[in-house]
Amino acid sequence: MPKRHLVTSALPYANGPIHIGHLVGCLLPADLYSRYLRMQDEEVLFVCGTDEHGVPITLKAKKEGKTPQQVVDENHKIIKDALVNFGISFDHFSRTTNSEHHKTASDFFEVLYKKGVFIEVRNEQLFDPKAKQFLADRYISGECPNCGYDKAYGDQCENCGKTLSPQELINPKSALTGEEPILKETLNWYLPLDRIQEEFLNDFIESKKGKWRSTVYGQCKSWLNEGLRPRAMTRDLDWGVKVPIESAEGKVMYVWFDAPIGYITATKEARPNDWERWWKDNDTELTHFLGKDNIVFHCIIFPAMLHEHGEFILPTQVPANEFLNLEGEKISTSRDHAIWLHDYIDEFPDKLDELRYTLTSIMPETKDADFTWNDFQARVNNELVAILGNFVNRVMVLSHKFHKGVIQSADLDADLQSKLNSILTKIDSSVRKNSQREANEFFMEIARLGNKYLQDQAPWHLAKEGDNEAEIAVCMRSCQELLFSLGKYSQVFLPKTADKILKLLNINDYRTSLMDGHRLGEASLLFERIDDDVIERQRDKLKNKNQPKTPFKPMINYEDFSKLDLRSGIIKAASKVEKADKLLKITVDIGSEERTVVSGIAEHFQADDIIGKQVCLLVNLEPRKLRGIESEGMILMAEDAEGQLKFVSPEEGTSAGSVIS
Ligand code: 2FM
Ligand code: ZN
Repeated sequence: MPKRHLVTSALPYANGPIHIGHLVGCLLPADLYSRYLRMQDEEVLFVCGTDEHGVPITLKAKKEGKTPQQVVDENHKIIKDALVNFGISFDHFSRTTNSEHHKTASDFFEVLYKKGVFIEVRNEQLFDPKAKQFLADRYISGECPNCGYDKAYGDQCENCGKTLSPQELINPKSALTGEEPILKETLNWYLPLDRIQEEFLNDFIESKKGKWRSTVYGQCKSWLNEGLRPRAMTRDLDWGVKVPIESAEGKVMYVWFDAPIGYITATKEARPNDWERWWKDNDTELTHFLGKDNIVFHCIIFPAMLHEHGEFILPTQVPANEFLNLEGEKISTSRDHAIWLHDYIDEFPDKLDELRYTLTSIMPETKDADFTWNDFQARVNNELVAILGNFVNRVMVLSHKFHKGVIQSADLDADLQSKLNSILTKIDSSVRKNSQREANEFFMEIARLGNKYLQDQAPWHLAKEGDNEAEIAVCMRSCQELLFSLGKYSQVFLPKTADKILKLLNINDYRTSLMDGHRLGEASLLFERIDDDVIERQRDKLKNKNQPKTPFKPMINYEDFSKLDLRSGIIKAASKVEKADKLLKITVDIGSEERTVVSGIAEHFQADDIIGKQVCLLVNLEPRKLRGIESEGMILMAEDAEGQLKFVSPEEGTSAGSVIS
């Protein structure tokens, strides 16, 4: 009986598109693994989807003036299209906002609830009275009690690294509104991880020693050594899967509770009639692919949930990858230091396997890796073009030259065949132990082997020497067989290339074999060299992203600067200017007098909201009339890359009229 493999790749958040870091972290290794096992005729179900709940999505929606549903609808489409076009071979790609998922997660929660697994904890949590919302730790910032850094988060100070709780912050502020949060009592349902650790997790993780990657096992051990504590599985929020308990009105499940259940949902959607075979039968091997930041959720929390539920299998393998950097720096979505998959596909629609090959070659399986455009170019030119493309092309051209493209009846070179078999065995063992990077290297060995064989046999010399028809036939037949294997294995490593090789071989699929007398297709090149200017353009693009969008102005001297008379002020009144969508008429108190200023900020601020704001005012700007109103100065504003405006405000308590210099 072939084994049954359930393969999952961590569900990307639907709060933005995906980049090469996501690909190399889990999507690509999961795809390679699934493709390989399918090729071996083993039963595979590869599921994924988008993770569409969580606070960041609600914040993004708020910022963009959309509903959370609109945000996830847009991103789900972008993500799915890019991945499918790139060739990630999901059997099913789901979403956690699907009704099937809400039902599955809800049923799961209910089972745990009825079994009395959760503990109910009533405590005081920080609450934003203006947004009328409880605040996750990350959404509170304030001064670090340890180092004084004023932008520390409620869970950690990024300056000194200290782990914090929001209550420890000095002057805490809500990230939603800037308001000071208050403490408000709430009731939540916690998973008693301390109990589950004693009863199950310690042994479960111990049983994975030597089986899971040492990086994965090591991280789990260190969590366990610290001692797990109960963790809230519900949140006071309105975006997520509703908690199916009467007393939990207005609460949803913690996003990390419902997201991994998404794997079960996706299986149900893909195999409505026999999904239980995949989740409730010990003959299924469950493999979770993910990035290292997700280890605790997949190796500790989700197994704890599955164990407590009692009906489901547990993961066999969790091959978490390390991180990918880009040109020596961390990938950063906020700084746009990333290669976005949908952008790459738009720019290089014919070079998808080139990216796939490079990413597999540097896959961060044991340590962090770095993607550089120069390395990409070198791998395409020196490996795909010069080794693989070269071998394939030589076989095609020589087959046409010697035998008009018709496959001859001849023996295969036994030595070559045995070398090929030994490479295929190594590929098998590498893929199964999730060393996809190594497997990819062995795959390239097939082409290297072919090039060397051709070079050694030199059929073009044999032809010149005359009377070597039989040797030439053996050589070409053997090379054609290698070409067939390259095509077949390209289904795993280079799927777009596999299709091209099918055309060259003039066959419909790799389940057939090459028959004597079969006519090959026309020769054509598989890969093109990538020129320096293409790489330069990409490198410049990344550099430019990191540059300020607005160029710096020419230098001025101190005298120029000292001509500006800047004063602090407080907005006393503000109103819309009639028939002018963009203008507000603002009265600013600068201590000694009040000034009227007409400012083009009406599309960014409501008049009522800015009253009382501390501002900086340029007071010696020549007055000018706007819509009949004399404007006597200019309020300083900061504009970010997206065109969002913020007031440049002196520190609170600065008295009106203070001189700014
Ligand atoms: O880290 C992330 O991108 C999460 N959205 C992964 C979720 S994986 C799973 F549990 F669904
Ligand atoms: Zn600090």
